Amino acid sequence: MADLFLKQAKQYSETRPGYPQELFDFIAGKTTGHDLVWDVGTGSGQAAISLASIYTNVIGTDTSKKQLDFAPKLLNVRYICTSPNLSPSELEEIGTESSVDLVAVAQALHWFDNEIFYDQVKWILKKPNGVIAAWCYTIPEIDDQFDPIFRKFYSESKPYWDLLRGLVDDKYTSIKFPFEAVDGCNHTGPFEFQSKKLMSLDEFFTYIRSWSAYQTAKEKGVELLNDGVIEEFSRAWNGDENGQRCVTYPVYLRIGKVGNSVTIPHLA
Ligand SMILES: C[S@@+](CC[C@H](N)C(=O)[O-])C[C@H]1O[C@@H](n2cnc3c(N)ncnc32)[C@H](O)[C@@H]1O
Repeated sequence: MADLFLKQAKQYSETRPGYPQELFDFIAGKTTGHDLVWDVGTGSGQAAISLASIYTNVIGTDTSKKQLDFAPKLLNVRYICTSPNLSPSELEEIGTESSVDLVAVAQALHWFDNEIFYDQVKWILKKPNGVIAAWCYTIPEIDDQFDPIFRKFYSESKPYWDLLRGLVDDKYTSIKFPFEAVDGCNHTGPFEFQSKKLMSLDEFFTYIRSWSAYQTAKEKGVELLNDGVIEEFSRAWNGDENGQRCVTYPVYLRIGKVGNSVTIPHLA
């Protein structure tokens, strides 16, 4: 699936939302140490850039070298291109057993929700308070005029999404998440946040072109952004004097701590 993100890495880095400070403050408040973060599926560093201002060191991994090429270069962030299921040596390049304070997964857990990944997370997190925070964002919201048109468009794009996208539509409520509630919480989420981004209509179209579903449709000879769609979106956009709108992405966070579970990772 990582290939789905290869062809539109540039559009991805230009138009995907970052995440709100409140989200990072919440996560940072639940991690007892602030030394090392593993940002898995970092893409072009949408979360890494904020994590780097809170934690001493961030390691961002992704299976797509092209995505990593667009990530911001920061002194305390190291990017590593890995295989989808990390080998022992790839895992040890990130950290030794019980060495990581936080595993962060932004808009990516649904792609690698499996036992191998969870065992690796349990092995690498500090015991008992190491934290995993995984969040997704669902479809953007603008206003009562635009949103119904966009929802119809999104629902017509469904055949081109991987089935795993259903976990995002479901706001990560049904995703497997085998961790303990962090201190001060009695469940592992989802906790809701909002990410806001000012966008022109052109940028909004570029955001749609960064979808894996857009790429899949194109490969099947279907242009999701056909003339009819472009006209309909343009009529409903109602931009300000710069043609921009504030686009809101609802964000859903699952967060948990590892506890004292001792796990030997299944390594690929
Ligand atoms: C939707 S993007 C999210 C990127 C970024 N974290 C963000 O918040 O926008 C998902 C990323 O996960 C990467 N990915 C997919 N499968 C992966 C795997 N098994 N291990 C690591 N990264 C993976 C893809 O290459 C892609 O960059």
